Amino acid sequence: MDFKQYIADVPDFPEEGIVFRDISPLMADGEAYKEATRQIVEYAKGKGVEMIVGPEARGFIVGCPVANELGIGFAPCRKKGKLPRETVEVSYGLEYGNDILQLHKDAIKPGQKVLITDDLLATGGTIAATIELVEKLGGEVVGAAFFIELADLKGRDKIEGYDIFKLMTY
Ligand code: PRP
Ligand code: ADE
Repeated sequence: MDFKQYIADVPDFPEEGIVFRDISPLMADGEAYKEATRQIVEYAKGKGVEMIVGPEARGFIVGCPVANELGIGFAPCRKKGKLPRETVEVSYGLEYGNDILQLHKDAIKPGQKVLITDDLLATGGTIAATIELVEKLGGEVVGAAFFIELADLKGRDKIEGYDIFKLMTY
């Protein structure tokens, strides 16, 4: 499937110079969203994934349907102050700005094989922070799956050694 036909390119959002790759048309098309999910499910099956972790907010859009299809759990990684119980946290930079991400302390069991999901890999700040959180809890990150990789931003260099799956490259 040519997934790129379902991505809306929005110049100068959220700030000048950024071309925002909006996945909402893909999500709005039932067949496209289902096929995107199916391909990540197949990838996850090959990796023996036991748990999925996705960063707020678009990591949920990718990860939850995959977890549901596999019959495994999903743990939300959230921006500071949103998770109600004890957390681990890490600060990180992204294509536009800085933030703090948190994960509940009991989100992952030590040794669990974890797949991290997000809509898009840009500078790699978000995915590197999410990996750090999972590993703080003793999880084994077996891969990271995205709808989109922005290759020019070299996010994959930040997570060298980790397996990456993506549906589209810009
Ligand atoms: C976006 C996107 C990724 C991240 C990628 O999320 O969904 O999580 O940026 O950028 P990076 O590779 O440079 O870290 P954002 O923080 O804008 O939050 P949102 O999903 O809540 O919109
Ligand atoms: N997150 C970081 N960079 C982005 C971009 N160019 N489009 C959509 N989401 C993003």
